[in-house]
Amino acid sequence: MASKSYYFHLILFLIPLFNFSLKSYSQDVDRASDYDKWLSWNVQNHRRKALLQAESITQAPASFGRVLDDKLSKAEMNKVRISVSQNGTGHFRTIREAIDSIPPNNTRRVILEIKPGVYREKIVVPRTLPFVTLLGDSTNPPTITGNDTASVTGTDGKPLKTFQSATVSVDANYFVAINMVFENTAPHVIGSVGEQAVALRISGTKAAFYNCSFYGAQDTLYDHKGLHYFNNCFIQGSVDFIFGYGRSLYENCNLNSVAKKVASLTAQKRSSSSLESGFSFKDSVVTGSGMIYLGRAWGDYSRVVFSYTFMDKLVRPQGWSDWGKPNRDTRVFYGEYKCSGPGANFTGRVPWARILTDEEAQPFIGTHYVDGDTWLITP
Ligand SMILES: *[C@@H]1O[C@H](CO)[C@@H](O)[C@H](O)[C@H]1NC(C)=O
Ligand SMILES: *[C@@H]1O[C@H](CO)[C@@H](O)[C@H](O)[C@H]1NC(C)=O
Ligand SMILES: *[C@@H]1O[C@H](CO)[C@@H](O)[C@H](O)[C@H]1NC(C)=O
Ligand SMILES: *[C@@H]1O[C@H](CO)[C@@H](O)[C@H](O)[C@H]1NC(C)=O
Ligand SMILES: *[C@@H]1O[C@H](CO)[C@@H](O)[C@H](O)[C@H]1NC(C)=O
Repeated sequence: MASKSYYFHLILFLIPLFNFSLKSYSQDVDRASDYDKWLSWNVQNHRRKALLQAESITQAPASFGRVLDDKLSKAEMNKVRISVSQNGTGHFRTIREAIDSIPPNNTRRVILEIKPGVYREKIVVPRTLPFVTLLGDSTNPPTITGNDTASVTGTDGKPLKTFQSATVSVDANYFVAINMVFENTAPHVIGSVGEQAVALRISGTKAAFYNCSFYGAQDTLYDHKGLHYFNNCFIQGSVDFIFGYGRSLYENCNLNSVAKKVASLTAQKRSSSSLESGFSFKDSVVTGSGMIYLGRAWGDYSRVVFSYTFMDKLVRPQGWSDWGKPNRDTRVFYGEYKCSGPGANFTGRVPWARILTDEEAQPFIGTHYVDGDTWLITP
């Protein structure tokens, strides 16, 4: 008992220390546009975090170095399972009915076991429903499909726009999907407008995706905002097929282009120097058709890193695009680290792309990048 309360006080003591030590970038560096300074600040900040983490492990062994988010541990302790099967053998026949059955502001993790099948449904997981998990069968993952586009007229008589075109929209925190296929089948015709067609939009924070596939053309995966983790996923599209301003780690993913001409894999929208937003791709594979940029700068301070990734020949030698706005060249942060394959040849890269050093890459190449220790749970 005594030692337990000792650790409890120790943790309470560590919290203010954390807040103090992890100052935001803008406090440490006032010249926000100077990204060299930012780069070294980021390396230092990562070291500080790692050190604090190591200290908390040695001083509080009971926590095994992981201090899981309190709300999440409670939700995890009281989890419930609901099954969805189209043939009537589960609790519900549709995913939407199952989601509607969850009480608003629920505090338990709700695992929806989705039986194999093609679910033609438009799904919204509202902000009031945190801790929802969609769990499919790894040998026969269920598909949620739709074909809305930005220009389709909504129930209010107005065009849906990109945001509402998503087949699956998640506004809730602590969302998890395992062995699921998310699809938007709207065809993409080059040169036409309003054809953004999102398969999945994730706007909640602390969301994880394992063994999932995302199929679409223009704007497949709207990695809108929050901390996100993708593992062993297949993501396919043509134009800007991963976009938004999430702070996300993609590990072990296959990014597959179906572009016919020139397109961009990512459009990352970090729009100010104080945002901790950016996409990090690690141990992944870039394949497919057309010619692609690894990223184009949707935001002035767009941030994307590729590490240990195989890039096939479809990657344009220039690698990155400033979307025709040269003022972004000194603000964006596009880094590459230990990538391989014909598309990773750095000779023709734009001068403002970077090969990262070991220490510069460190902050991006682990689940620490998304503060995973506090919220990633075994799927
Ligand atoms: C859920 O929480 C929100 C925000 O705290 C509150 O406004 C709302 O009334 C709650 N809804 C229910 C059904 O408890
Ligand atoms: C209903 O679907 C489930 C899951 O796909 C399957 O295991 C089961 O055999 C089906 N039952 C009937 C009666 O078709
Ligand atoms: C979208 O799918 C529906 C249902 O399959 C179909 O009726 C409709 O024609 C499709 N719309 C477009 C634009 O392809
Ligand atoms: C992911 O898929 C693999 C098979 O490809 C399977 O072995 C593994 O259990 C799946 N992961 C989860 C979390 O279900
Ligand atoms: C990289 O590209 C340059 C210019 O196109 C070429 O000369 C060089 O051989 C390439 N390097 C590799 C390792 O393929």
